[in-house]
Amino acid sequence: MNDFACEPLGNQHDRTRFDCGVSVLNDYLAKYAKQDVKRKASAVFVLVKHSDPTQIIGFYTLCATSVGLSELPEELTNKMPRYPEIPAILVGRLARDINYPGVGELLLLDAIARCVRVAGEIAASLIVVDSKGDAATRFYEKYGFLSLPKLAGRMFLPMQTAQKL
Ligand SMILES: CC(C)(COP(=O)(O)OP(=O)(O)OC[C@H]1O[C@@H](n2cnc3c(N)ncnc32)[C@H](O)[C@@H]1OP(=O)(O)O)[C@@H](O)C(=O)NCCC(=O)NCCS
Repeated sequence: MNDFACEPLGNQHDRTRFDCGVSVLNDYLAKYAKQDVKRKASAVFVLVKHSDPTQIIGFYTLCATSVGLSELPEELTNKMPRYPEIPAILVGRLARDINYPGVGELLLLDAIARCVRVAGEIAASLIVVDSKGDAATRFYEKYGFLSLPKLAGRMFLPMQTAQKL
């Protein structure tokens, strides 16, 4: 992480040059991310290089969410609080520029570390991600994320596991 910094999206960042190869994510960053930040719909964090702090190399979004206890695999429910809705943090989008393969891990570990820190102040039992496609699912599985059987594309990591990462 020495050459890089992960920081909140700001006016100094150039949102138009970013290309992760997925147009819906490029468009989100270019057109909607700032609005989301302003309206408190999502917090947006960007990965930049110290040598060119305006160029966005990667980004992810975080917001509060919840997962129904009945949506979790049965073997996990007895380890969860006995409430119908389990508090969680959603990593809604995560992507890196096509010119920077290999920084996906940096982004995800930064997002997980941030979730663990935040959950120390506002409790959340799970980290949830929206995986867009099979490749993304395999990427998240590598870090221990499990699929939510009843919600296609949604995966989760217990916060207790995240703390150990
Ligand atoms: C998913 C994404 C963030 C991964 O970024 P990346 O820079 O390729 O990831 P890294 O190279 O840091 O990979 C970290 C680890 O995950 C593995 N990995 C990455 N993509 C993978 C895939 N498609 N299948 C299996 N493993 C994968 C890598 O092999 C690496 O493991 P290793 O260190 O044991 O080799 C990137 O491909 C991307 O931005 N894709 C477009 C947007 C997207 O689909 N985002 C996810 C849903 S919002």
